[in-house]
Amino acid sequence: MASGFTPERIAGLVEGAASVAGQVELAGILRSTVEFAKEITGARFGALGVVGEHGTLTDFITVGLDDGRAEHIGAPPKGTGMLGAITSLGTTIRTTDIASHPDAAGFPKGHPQMVSFLGVPIRVGDEIFGNLYLTDKEGGFTEDDEILIEFLAVTAGSAVSTLRLQDRLRRAALLEDRERIARDLHDSIIQDLFAVGLGLQAAATHASSDPEKLRRLIDGAIDQLDESIAALRRYIFDLRPPVWARPGLREALADLVGQLSAPYSATVSLEVACAPDLVPDHIADELLATVKEALSNALRHSQAPSIEVRVGCGASQAVMTVSDDGVGFDQSAPGRGLGLSNMANRVGAVGGSFRVDTTSGKGTVVRATFPLQST
Ligand SMILES: Nc1ncnc2c1ncn2[C@@H]1O[C@H](COP(=O)(O)OP(=O)(O)OP(=O)(O)O)[C@@H](O)[C@H]1O
Ligand SMILES: [Mg+2]
Repeated sequence: MASGFTPERIAGLVEGAASVAGQVELAGILRSTVEFAKEITGARFGALGVVGEHGTLTDFITVGLDDGRAEHIGAPPKGTGMLGAITSLGTTIRTTDIASHPDAAGFPKGHPQMVSFLGVPIRVGDEIFGNLYLTDKEGGFTEDDEILIEFLAVTAGSAVSTLRLQDRLRRAALLEDRERIARDLHDSIIQDLFAVGLGLQAAATHASSDPEKLRRLIDGAIDQLDESIAALRRYIFDLRPPVWARPGLREALADLVGQLSAPYSATVSLEVACAPDLVPDHIADELLATVKEALSNALRHSQAPSIEVRVGCGASQAVMTVSDDGVGFDQSAPGRGLGLSNMANRVGAVGGSFRVDTTSGKGTVVRATFPLQST
């Protein structure tokens, strides 16, 4: 291709840059960059070196060498000498005679003799990701070539950085999914199974004295297990939190409280002051999950004789409190479970507020608010 900024050359540059930017894999970006660089400058050889730790080259892609020729040369360059100077200085090197350049370290045996040279760094953010090298252009590389190749290097750098960003976003999305699944399983299934376990424990004490009662407790446990299995199945099927079969929030809360507290001796009172249908389903799901964890904590950990569950609705928010008059706990102690952080995250995710007030020897109040109007 000719020198100078002819319309054809500019059009070619735009086309090449678009093809580099359009690559969806790293290997494609690197190869199309070096191929295009060779073509637009008219160089005989082109190469792209990827810089690893300590400035050494970890990958080296060549164009213009006949098949087998690159192998014949032996190991790819380490990235010392003139190639290394581009990395360490972060600047373009252009020379008409490689041999006379102060940084030149000489060619290895079997390497074709190369005379003119143009090398530019490829940056990704603040780092030098790699270098683009061109050699042997008839008449030597011009200042225009230098400008074109620097532009191409910027395009390649931003394509690499876009690719890395996409990769990070994909990973973050995966991680978020995993966290959500872990949280949902903990909140819905583990707490149910825990209650079943306690029910069976209680049943064991009636094993010899009251076979009738034993039968009933075991039947109840089997029912609960069946329900958990069904919920788990639904969850796995559509990977959404299980939807409680509920005619309304009040009934769902009553079922939940009844089921959770059955194996315990604590008295649990429930008060719901919300007009039917006031709380939208997705908020009701979060509210029920929060009540479930807070109540299950109070039942399991507080040793309280009585626990109160209150749900009230104002114009703009629903408020849930679970209070116990039990032993309280040290909130600064490293947590053993996931329950408290799950509740906080769950409530935070729908724009509500969450707080725990606890006093040693006096008890604990868990309070969460849930917005009723989308803002
Ligand atoms: N109402 C409460 N009364 C007394 N201690 C509590 C109460 N709620 C929580 N705790 C203490 O805080 C700790 C952390 O609670 P959290 O719900 O995060 O985990 P967990 O209940 O131990 O386990 P998980 O919820 O994962 O089944 C509990 O182990 C318990 O010591
Ligand atoms: Mg818990």
